[in-house]
Amino acid sequence: MVQAAFYEGKEQIRIGECIPVQPAAGEVQIKVSHCGICGTDLHLFHGKMDHRVHLPQVFGHEMSGTITALGEGVKGFALGDRVTVRPLDPCGTCAACLAGHSHICYHLKFIGIDAPGALQGLWTVPAHTLHRLPDSLSFKLGALIEPLAVASHDVRLAEVARGEHIVVQGGGPIGVLIGLVARSAGAKVLLSEVNPFRLQLAGELGFETVNPRQTDLAGYVNAWTNSAGADVVFEVSGSAAGAEMMTKLPRTRGRIVIVAIFGEVPRVNLFQFFWRELRLLGARVYEPQDFESAISLASSGTLPLERLISKVTPLDGLEAALRQLESGGEVMKILVQCSQD
Ligand SMILES: NC(=O)c1ccc[n+]([C@@H]2O[C@H](COP(=O)([O-])OP(=O)(O)OC[C@H]3O[C@@H](n4cnc5c(N)ncnc54)[C@H](O)[C@@H]3O)[C@@H](O)[C@H]2O)c1
Ligand SMILES: [Zn+2]
Ligand SMILES: [Zn+2]
Repeated sequence: MVQAAFYEGKEQIRIGECIPVQPAAGEVQIKVSHCGICGTDLHLFHGKMDHRVHLPQVFGHEMSGTITALGEGVKGFALGDRVTVRPLDPCGTCAACLAGHSHICYHLKFIGIDAPGALQGLWTVPAHTLHRLPDSLSFKLGALIEPLAVASHDVRLAEVARGEHIVVQGGGPIGVLIGLVARSAGAKVLLSEVNPFRLQLAGELGFETVNPRQTDLAGYVNAWTNSAGADVVFEVSGSAAGAEMMTKLPRTRGRIVIVAIFGEVPRVNLFQFFWRELRLLGARVYEPQDFESAISLASSGTLPLERLISKVTPLDGLEAALRQLESGGEVMKILVQCSQD
């Protein structure tokens, strides 16, 4: 039996029979292999996205799989192709879409929240969302392409250059992936994190690490950069402390990139923007080229991506996995196996 995970209301998950949807014109059906769980899924589980979902809602959006059916008119893909999905469905007609910014469309549908997601054996999506996975890339690593594409987008928008000093605040999956992508672009990376397990993992991955609750991060960065300040600060912690800290770290004309989604409006010291002529950038999701960069980077085998996978669980272990993630303990990325390869 093909299974699916249904969100049925705040903190209620039911594993039941998947109802396969035949692909309409321009759509494909995919046998989902693995699906990663992230903070957004946890948010949804906690009932914070009830205004967007339709119950019972299948969620999940960080996946890998194989095409099992093609709708009419789908070109460039065939049955059996190994793929991942860029889970964005823009309107195509708003000012953002017309300006070429369809990834931040004013009416953007995020597939996995605003439309059924990937935590099911068979998933039907628009073909324009597909990216091909090379045979050399495992389905497990294929499920990391979506968060790696977030990181690729962030590093690209920040224009990280070889030799630059980069500070990443927040060593969760996204922060660590930003660190890995920035390092592969030749930057020196310092990771600031408060969770001891994640700090240790970041250290093992070869990053300079600081716990800002134990060490004066601003003083550390000053010494690390020979009193110049960091070239780029990525704020990926989403914490009030991170928002207060971020303006203390950059050099003159340094960049701050906001990647985190802040649950509450944070206090930010604007003085440093004037004093050091800082630049503030926002970075949201990804564009197609970021998926392609992420796929080639992952396929190159140069990033220690396997180290980020804490656990692989079957679908009926999903709720326990969400509980483990919310505990904030010794965990980085958990993957759910949605079908046998
Ligand atoms: N821009 C986008 O499109 C996009 C995409 C995906 C995720 N996000 C957001 O990016 C953020 C990171 O995602 P994640 O999945 O890695 O989340 P996460 O919650 O796993 O990671 C955040 C990390 O920050 C650490 N932290 C908390 N306070 C800190 C502090 N003061 N200093 C340093 N570190 C601190 C936490 O211990 C945690 O490990 C979240 O806010 C998420 O919503 C944004
Ligand atoms: Zn995600
Ligand atoms: Zn649009």
